[in-house]
Amino acid sequence: MASHVGEEISGCPTTERVQTIFSTIAPRYDRFNRISSLGLDRSWRRRAVRYAGIAPADQVLDLAAGTGDLTMAILRYAEPAGLLSTDFVPEMLEVGEQKASRYQGETLVSFAVVDAQALPFHDDAYDVVTVGFGVRNMPDRAANFREVRRVLKPGGRYAVLEFSRPSPAPFRAVYHLYLRHVIPALGALLTRDRRAFEYLNKSIEAFPGRVALARELHEAGFSQVQWHTMTFGIVAVHIATK
Ligand SMILES: C[S@@+](CC[C@H](N)C(=O)[O-])C[C@H]1O[C@@H](n2cnc3c(N)ncnc32)[C@H](O)[C@@H]1O
Repeated sequence: MASHVGEEISGCPTTERVQTIFSTIAPRYDRFNRISSLGLDRSWRRRAVRYAGIAPADQVLDLAAGTGDLTMAILRYAEPAGLLSTDFVPEMLEVGEQKASRYQGETLVSFAVVDAQALPFHDDAYDVVTVGFGVRNMPDRAANFREVRRVLKPGGRYAVLEFSRPSPAPFRAVYHLYLRHVIPALGALLTRDRRAFEYLNKSIEAFPGRVALARELHEAGFSQVQWHTMTFGIVAVHIATK
């Protein structure tokens, strides 16, 4: 990683930083998620799948799929005809492939190393595109939104699950203390990489709020954008329709 001891960590993603962080923490990513979210992350993904409104005949593309937890939630709760799970860090994707190897349902599931900001797919290819906790880590979010819109069929939906800003003020104060102090300490304990988690919490604080994110999706050309909040607004899923 191109940062040094004592150097202030920023919440702005760079491709090099993001790839270094996730290739390093891949084997411990799931355990960190479960513990740091107090087990809530599974229900966030389950609800995101429900809001995405995936139909049995759909072709679905999961971007920045990491270790495959959203991919597995799609298989478990939606079972579309086809599901392509992608990420640009092979070490993360390999964990997801192992999980999916135990899947015995009807969906045709496959995996590919793909940069979500430059999609190697033709126009109008997918019914639904999903991303869980991924767009916050993309240096060029607008490029991702344009690309997703391009590969979606007319009327197709982009489901963006991401950290947001909790609304009740007292809760927000406690949450920020948790982000700034508990998350890096927990990250250091589980992965010995405190600075990776300092970046992750700063990236959460730097990420736009719900209205601003909806505006960005509109600006990328999506015709309709709705959002649903979860756990006092810690997390939101935006559903953008092409
Ligand atoms: C916090 S993890 C989320 C993984 C998974 N979606 C989940 O719900 O747990 C973020 C993932 O985004 C991936 N990522 C970030 N930028 C990306 C990009 N431009 N293209 C593809 N993957 C990207 C990282 O490699 C990492 O695996």
